Amino acid sequence: MSKISYDFKNRTAVITGGAQGFGFDIARRFLISGAKVVIWDNDSEMIEKALKNLDNPNLSSDVVDVSNYHDVEKSTNKIIKNSKIDILINNAGITGPTSALWEYDIKMWKRVVDINLMGTFNCCRAIVPNMIGNNYGRIVNVASVAGKDGNANASAYSVGKAGAIGLTKSLGKELADKNIAVNAVTPAGAKTRILDQMTKEHVQRMLSMVPRGRFLEVEEFTSLVCWLSSEENTFSTAAVFDISGGRSTY
Ligand SMILES: NC(=O)c1ccc[n+]([C@@H]2O[C@H](COP(=O)([O-])OP(=O)(O)OC[C@H]3O[C@@H](n4cnc5c(N)ncnc54)[C@H](O)[C@@H]3O)[C@@H](O)[C@H]2O)c1
Repeated sequence: MSKISYDFKNRTAVITGGAQGFGFDIARRFLISGAKVVIWDNDSEMIEKALKNLDNPNLSSDVVDVSNYHDVEKSTNKIIKNSKIDILINNAGITGPTSALWEYDIKMWKRVVDINLMGTFNCCRAIVPNMIGNNYGRIVNVASVAGKDGNANASAYSVGKAGAIGLTKSLGKELADKNIAVNAVTPAGAKTRILDQMTKEHVQRMLSMVPRGRFLEVEEFTSLVCWLSSEENTFSTAAVFDISGGRSTY
């Protein structure tokens, strides 16, 4: 586990999909670094488990479906009534089924794009005005190497993540004259619950494309997100940070 500590004192972070996996580990590290953390997730049982496991007075939560703008706006207003939001980690995501595009269930295709892309839009749409008001913000959009390369049999996911990358580049430029950074990260496969949504063969194919020859560890991913979320990142914005173990070299 990394020993580098970041100063997140007096910072409030919203982490979507924070009840488990990447989001949970980011919450853990932010709390250790002094931040107040609010987890937004649509899985209330996993939220309860996360609150118990992290057991920290600086941690709170809300049951939010990021694809629903009304939910997102309501939860944003609850926080900014008495506080501010300094950091937003758009991390909630699903892969959806492994399926060829011409056989893909239409409702499911839309749902995957709704969560991965519209969820990112909704959270930025609701929270950015607060960041502009404070002239401070760090936004990290969790995309995927699938959004850069396009994974076969994962068209909805690849589109949703490619869209999140496009959104990052556009919003980063819109906010570049302020102390607000918007960046995307593109991880390769890591052993979290999301892998259960894909077939074993699909996961194996993804792994076979990674020159490092192994899965990404969640703590490795958290390290990158921490720097991008910190005050130390004063210049990088509208950029895509690769963490794919050598798979994507652009
Ligand atoms: N693990 C990987 O291999 C991998 C690789 C590349 C990118 N990613 C991305 O990383 C992010 C985190 O994934 P993870 O691996 O930790 O998966 P995970 O399944 O462990 O965690 C995802 C979390 O998002 C929540 N969530 C799903 N839909 C939601 C919604 N509509 N509203 C609110 N919360 C919702 C889930 O309840 C869950 O707690 C995702 O965006 C995923 O696409 C993961």
